Amino acid sequence: MGDLETLKKEAALRAVALVESGMRVGLGTGSTAKYAIEELGRRLAAGELRDIVGVATSEASEALAREVGVPVQPLDPRPLDLAIDGADEIDPDLNLIKGLGGALLREKLTEVQARRLVIIADHTKLVTRLGEKAPLPVEITRFGFLSTVERLRALVPGGRLRQPGAQPYVTDNGNYIYDAQLPAAFEPLELERQLKGTLGVVETGFFLGMADVAFVATPEGVREIRR
Ligand code: A5P
Repeated sequence: MGDLETLKKEAALRAVALVESGMRVGLGTGSTAKYAIEELGRRLAAGELRDIVGVATSEASEALAREVGVPVQPLDPRPLDLAIDGADEIDPDLNLIKGLGGALLREKLTEVQARRLVIIADHTKLVTRLGEKAPLPVEITRFGFLSTVERLRALVPGGRLRQPGAQPYVTDNGNYIYDAQLPAAFEPLELERQLKGTLGVVETGFFLGMADVAFVATPEGVREIRR
């Protein structure tokens, strides 16, 4: 396992240690969340936990949860005790950019219902301001996407439709993603408001004021960052 993978797993284990029997748990998406789902499965199989219900934030995480023996139910209006997920960027106030893995809409729908959102990451995800390293993923409808992209470019000039191959990337919800390059200075809440007010935009990868704690693994140990 590469160094970064070891760190991701260390962070994931710290988060899963917070899970108690009987909890309803939001299951994140991505290469770090994967370790959390596997650890949840391990703890269930070992008899350390029972009566856990997982709510998955993507089809991939749902498939993994089933594979490792974590019972999964669809999202319903009941609160979740805890949600555990990775992030693409974490700023000093625990504001996040998420969605490089494409699951931002289901992640936000799920995690907004969590009593505690626990973020797990390696130290490369820490930034002093959002947009420093990663683009901001913005989920947009397929219908009229070229027009939506034009509207988005008027708001945030740098950016491109996510297109890994011949065709645009399609989310679990059948939408496209525009990866916006954020400017050096902007006000996240105001930009979020403007993006959400743009016709064709379904959701953004800004997770502002949502995370309660982050376990960030560094070569010197796991840092716990609270809001
Ligand atoms: C999925 O859409 C994302 O929000 C992920 O949570 C985020 O990209 C972190 O993924 P990694 O743990 O793979 O870096």
